[in-house]
Amino acid sequence: MFHNNIINMKYLFKKILTKPHLLSIITDMEKKIVIGLMSGTSVDSVDAVAIEIKENGERPGMEILGGISHAIPADLKTLIFELFEDRAGSLKKLCLANMRIGHLFAEAVLTLLDKISIKPEQVALIGSHGQTAYHVADLENCCGMELRGSLQIGEASVIAQKTGIPVVSDFRVADIAAGGSGAPLVPFLDEILAGSLGPNTVFQNIGGIGNLTWFGKAGSDILAFDTGPGNMIIDHLVVEYSGGKLNFDTDGKIGREGMVLEDLLKKWMEHPYLKAEPPKSTGREEFGGEFFKTYLENLEIGPDLIRTATEYTVRTIVDSYERFLDALPKRIVIAGGGAFNPLIMEGLKAAFPDSEVMTGDEAGISSEFKEAAAFALMGYYFTEELYNNVPYATGAKRPVIMGKLSRP
Ligand SMILES: Nc1ncnc2c1ncn2[C@@H]1O[C@H](COP(=O)(O)OP(=O)(O)OP(=O)(O)O)[C@@H](O)[C@H]1O
Ligand SMILES: [Mg+2]
Repeated sequence: MFHNNIINMKYLFKKILTKPHLLSIITDMEKKIVIGLMSGTSVDSVDAVAIEIKENGERPGMEILGGISHAIPADLKTLIFELFEDRAGSLKKLCLANMRIGHLFAEAVLTLLDKISIKPEQVALIGSHGQTAYHVADLENCCGMELRGSLQIGEASVIAQKTGIPVVSDFRVADIAAGGSGAPLVPFLDEILAGSLGPNTVFQNIGGIGNLTWFGKAGSDILAFDTGPGNMIIDHLVVEYSGGKLNFDTDGKIGREGMVLEDLLKKWMEHPYLKAEPPKSTGREEFGGEFFKTYLENLEIGPDLIRTATEYTVRTIVDSYERFLDALPKRIVIAGGGAFNPLIMEGLKAAFPDSEVMTGDEAGISSEFKEAAAFALMGYYFTEELYNNVPYATGAKRPVIMGKLSRP
């Protein structure tokens, strides 16, 4: 037994020492296929997407090859929501959830590869955002220091070992260490896409939270920040209303039966986040449990409230543009799950009659997989030693190369 171990160790050392440098293998690959993984604040599913890198001088771009939304088992979803509540005893659960989500992410990769008939050996690398467990967007005192923080779970070592593919993960903390707020990160991809669409374009993402990147009339006007809630409040109300049978208001059907409660909406529009100057970011910490306690307690949940929450998403977006953009946008490209809610799309089209309001798919960028694709490309930039944060969006003091490498 002991003897066998020595032989194995010798064999292993030999294997490691003769293996070419990992990052040079990626650079030398003829066709660079990269997988992006993302689970957002909605905890609706794990998005896995395969992209092919398109070399383009200093700013490589990409083409989407295919994607899947991989289901999150109900008990794991419950566990993730428990972690958000940050109760005593969460730490052991967090530790295990990190590994469990790593396994789920690996499964998502293998299912995607099977669907698009690509073998793991053909994949250069995975860029994994993970699942945000907690995000401290504003400075808070911690034992004498003013700090921000962000914790994404879904252990990259598990993903790497289960798929045999190197993984770049844990992006946000590098931006925070450079003085930024670690969010939003997707403007990195928007910048690359903006070139083909032209000036005065807004990329609006509507996930759990809403966020935008605006490319103004002059090349130098760029702004990115979180506009406020996306689907988070709507989803919460629908889960309660349906007794847990539904996760979201599919195609806005429930909301369409209700009316906007204008007085209530007016109160919600007073939320201090909406008035804060960008750059700014928000999350479940402001529009999750706290919001429900302060703004929704004792209200009867039904179609009227769901309609009002949907309209809240629309109005916070409109309000953000009017307040913070120098000009009304010529083009508004909507991505994220909110692009599939017709009430949101109709509301935005009505509010901006002189702008072209379109979904990501209509603009040639997948509404569903854009975020996951952004993390795939960010992972690739890491291996190429290219900056992948966007300081004007996050407030970071300098560009940095975000990410950490886990080997199979
Ligand atoms: N057909 C649909 N009708 C209405 N809403 C939809 C539909 N499809 C998706 N959605 C909404 O989109 C949400 C998921 O969006 P997405 O995956 O972009 O968010 P996310 O995972 O929270 O990402 P982010 O990190 O951007 O917050 C769902 O929870 C749901 O509210
Ligand atoms: Mg999602």
